[in-house]
Amino acid sequence: MSAPALRIAVQKSGRLAEKSLELIEAAGFRIMKGANDLLYRVENAPIDILRVRDDDIPTFVGDGVADFGIVGRNVLAEAVEDGARAPVEAMALGFGRCTLKIAAPIGFKYANAHSLAGLRIATTYPRSLKRFLEAHGVQAEILTMRGAVEVAPRLHLAQAICDLVSTGATLEANGLEALDTVLESEAVLIRAPKGVQAQFAALGESMIARFKGVAASRGAKYIMMNAPRARLAEITAILPGADAPTITPLAGREDVLAVHAVCQESVFWETLERLKEAGASAILVLPIEKMM
Ligand code: PRP
Ligand code: ZN
Repeated sequence: MSAPALRIAVQKSGRLAEKSLELIEAAGFRIMKGANDLLYRVENAPIDILRVRDDDIPTFVGDGVADFGIVGRNVLAEAVEDGARAPVEAMALGFGRCTLKIAAPIGFKYANAHSLAGLRIATTYPRSLKRFLEAHGVQAEILTMRGAVEVAPRLHLAQAICDLVSTGATLEANGLEALDTVLESEAVLIRAPKGVQAQFAALGESMIARFKGVAASRGAKYIMMNAPRARLAEITAILPGADAPTITPLAGREDVLAVHAVCQESVFWETLERLKEAGASAILVLPIEKMM
């Protein structure tokens, strides 16, 4: 019998597996990879990590076997039947971005979803495709496959496909082009519909707050510079995604101020060049390790 713990279901192998563990570690939870490959323990908090097939994660969380899960929104959307056992999306995690798309052989004449009327479309995402077609009032046949849908058009099994696209390499290798978007996906944190086990509710809240901090600090930078007082407004307007910079006087300098700001977006060389042109000097861009 194992000790009671907060349980998080993550993908055992696949596109989100490694990054899900990295997120948990970045939130300060030290993962112990023991002999049991299906269950990892956390050393410094009562948390168990269940490693399962991603298609099973919504079921585990929906039934409350796990309190939380990390899964692609595409998998969640495909699994969710409305009702009491539908997991709740607690937050988007900002990694594992991909898109569920309609694609067909290059040259296919596509104006909009109605161009699919009467065709047969192969997919491993029948529910998502059905919702897409229904939303447009389009009648088409859905061919549900277990994988390798990209070969369906070549085998004349279907005229179009609905599949996940990340880099686009799979479509290109199969002479297909993307025509429309069914769903924008990324990794999401899902929560049991009945809520987290009562004794771990506070731990769950703190875990979410830490995940939010990790997600926010990704790509964010701390930028420092000296700016001529006369051009302060111009310079702060250039800073990407920074609200309320800190402005402090410099000892012995009436005309120059120090500007410090957290930039939510990447700081590119072009931005630095524009800052210099506006009179900024001694510009430093620093990574942010944690943010809360
Ligand atoms: C998806 C999809 C494609 C591929 C697209 O499969 O079915 O095969 O990724 O990626 P690309 O645009 O970078 O080429 P995935 O690897 O997720 O495996 P799955 O079919 O088991 O979900
Ligand atoms: Zn339409």
